[in-house]
Amino acid sequence: MPVLVINVDHVATLRQQRLGKEPDPLTAAHMAELAGARGIIVHLREDRRHIQDHDVELMARTLKTRLHLEMAATEEMRSIALSCETRQPHMVCLVPEKREELTTEGGLAVAGREAFLKDYLAPVHAAGILSSLFIEADEAQVRAAAAIGCPYIELHTGHFADAPTRAAQRAERDKIVRAIGLARSLGLSVNLGHGLNYDNIYDFAEVPGISEFSIGHSIVARAVLTGFERAVADMAAIIARFPA
Ligand code: PXP
Repeated sequence: MPVLVINVDHVATLRQQRLGKEPDPLTAAHMAELAGARGIIVHLREDRRHIQDHDVELMARTLKTRLHLEMAATEEMRSIALSCETRQPHMVCLVPEKREELTTEGGLAVAGREAFLKDYLAPVHAAGILSSLFIEADEAQVRAAAAIGCPYIELHTGHFADAPTRAAQRAERDKIVRAIGLARSLGLSVNLGHGLNYDNIYDFAEVPGISEFSIGHSIVARAVLTGFERAVADMAAIIARFPA
């Protein structure tokens, strides 16, 4: 049965708007665990636009489920993954990263870079950390990921989520379903993520072979609105007690 892992990057995005302390992604991560998330994902970007190094360290030390660290395949990120003081991430997921992008735009190019990625991941695997590669639902990329010996891939669902018509969305979904089948036949475990929301998730309800759904933006967006009325009422109640 697939499980839900929550990406809390955008709680940190809101915090970084004011460079302050709230909302705290660590608190959100603990709340997500209490609500049933089976793991927490953070993407430590090179430009530190949302998650900060101390968030990773605190999550590694205090989460009760599992921490998945998304990162670019750089020396800096690998040393952070390996140096989390008391507990390392359960999994690292390698993603492509461009400073100018709003969010991760495409899958990692694995085909043709097998030797580099295998070497890059060797110390990660030696430390007992699982690895995953965020890739397009493309046969060559899936086969390359399997050749490297990664236990997991995460298939990019962004093109499916952004497809302009229902027919285009179905075609993207079919590509993903075929890639899941191929990956499973090659012994890979398969996660899905990017752009999944309360509507399009149903398209994967009947698809076997999915380990985890990685979801962030739609959950944070819904939390802002479902929590808005309560947040306004809390402030109004405080002000209502002030003298006339
Ligand atoms: N998986 C990867 C590799 C991502 O980069 C992201 C976005 O940070 C997600 C999953 C989650 O996507 P979303 O925030 O659209 O749910």
